[in-house]
Amino acid sequence: MILVTGGAGFIGANFVLDWLAQSDEAVLNLDKLTYAGNQENLASLHGDARHVFVQGDIGDQELVARLLAEHQPRAILNFAAESHVDRSIHGPEDFMQTNIMGTFRLLEVVRAYWQDMKVEARSAFRFLHVSTDEVYGSLVQGDPAFSERHQYEPNSPYSASKAASDHLVRAWHHTYGLPVLTTNCSNNYGPYHFPEKLIPLMIVNALAGKPLPVYGDGMQVRDWLYVKDHCSAIRRVLEAGQPGEVYNVGGWNEKPNIDIVHTVCTLLDELRPRLDGKSYREQITYVKDRPGHDRRYAIDAGKIERELGWKPAETFESGIRKTVQWYLDNPDWVAHVQSGAYREWVQANYAERV
Ligand code: NAD
Ligand code: TYD
Repeated sequence: MILVTGGAGFIGANFVLDWLAQSDEAVLNLDKLTYAGNQENLASLHGDARHVFVQGDIGDQELVARLLAEHQPRAILNFAAESHVDRSIHGPEDFMQTNIMGTFRLLEVVRAYWQDMKVEARSAFRFLHVSTDEVYGSLVQGDPAFSERHQYEPNSPYSASKAASDHLVRAWHHTYGLPVLTTNCSNNYGPYHFPEKLIPLMIVNALAGKPLPVYGDGMQVRDWLYVKDHCSAIRRVLEAGQPGEVYNVGGWNEKPNIDIVHTVCTLLDELRPRLDGKSYREQITYVKDRPGHDRRYAIDAGKIERELGWKPAETFESGIRKTVQWYLDNPDWVAHVQSGAYREWVQANYAERV
């Protein structure tokens, strides 16, 4: 079996669902169930013996050691993290605890487990660390996209904590020989995306008749990838990646935020028109910018394409249509994640921006 950490979050849950749709190899899913973890994402696996869910922290070494001894996974995929830049600005502590100390503690337990393995299992074992393009910092217009050799220049508490975790993973390979793989991916979007991030926030606010808050001038550029394409890239890296190597994953799809918001509005105008016949664009509101806001991210996904033959299956047009449709088809999921804690966050992040 494989061990997935953070498998109740947005990308982790999509990964677990896709994995079990394509393979009978069981998944042990370790997730702390923070505000971002949601077992409803995994509801379709209820009663499926191939999925074992454990609520717990990647930094709980006793628990992780026991799980490894009991289940003997052949690979560990580390998705668990605090992942939202704005939250990292409001309160960086959890980011340092989970992304840095949690990764460190996990690596130490995994190292002991791996060192005790029999020779064959030991050489086949992999630790795959899921990271972000944000570790590379910000590009200006005209700069070449981030390759795996780009210097690390993280600018937010989130990206700094992810950069630190990447360095730890690298060091555990070079120092102890742990067979690690690291993926640095661009912005994902798709089903089960928590509505604190740009795309799902715009969809749920539009449908609720609320303002669509665009930070600054809305001309910050992100490189968007449909989440299932990220999952297929991770499966491919796990299968064929070279231990110690880093693979950048992206959709060759750079877009300014305001274009993304316009696209969401246009799709909603078509699929769920406003009762007054006006466009959802009427709800767009420019608000105070994020401090230290990175201007542009762009991923050069040439290495994973060349060396591992991976390519995204979705275009942005097909992926965003599926995504908007998913939110229209799943109002209960949306209603359940908009708990009191979610409303408190929205108040904390947006009240002072207007
Ligand atoms: P998410 O915030 O939706 O989910 C994170 C999950 O990790 C949640 O289920 C949470 O409960 C769990 N978790 C948090 N702390 C934990 C801990 N200490 N122990 C165990 N579980 C814990 O995040 P996501 O968007 O699914 O991102 C997953 C990974 O992918 C992260 O490492 C993130 O840095 C990386 N990534 C995300 C994106 C993106 O666009 N969302 C892009 C590139 C890389
Ligand atoms: P986000 O989804 O938080 O991802 P990240 O910061 O990791 O790239 O934000 C994507 C972009 O959208 C980013 O440039 C910030 C911007 N943004 C807004 O303009 N308004 C919002 O309400 C949010 C959440 C993000």
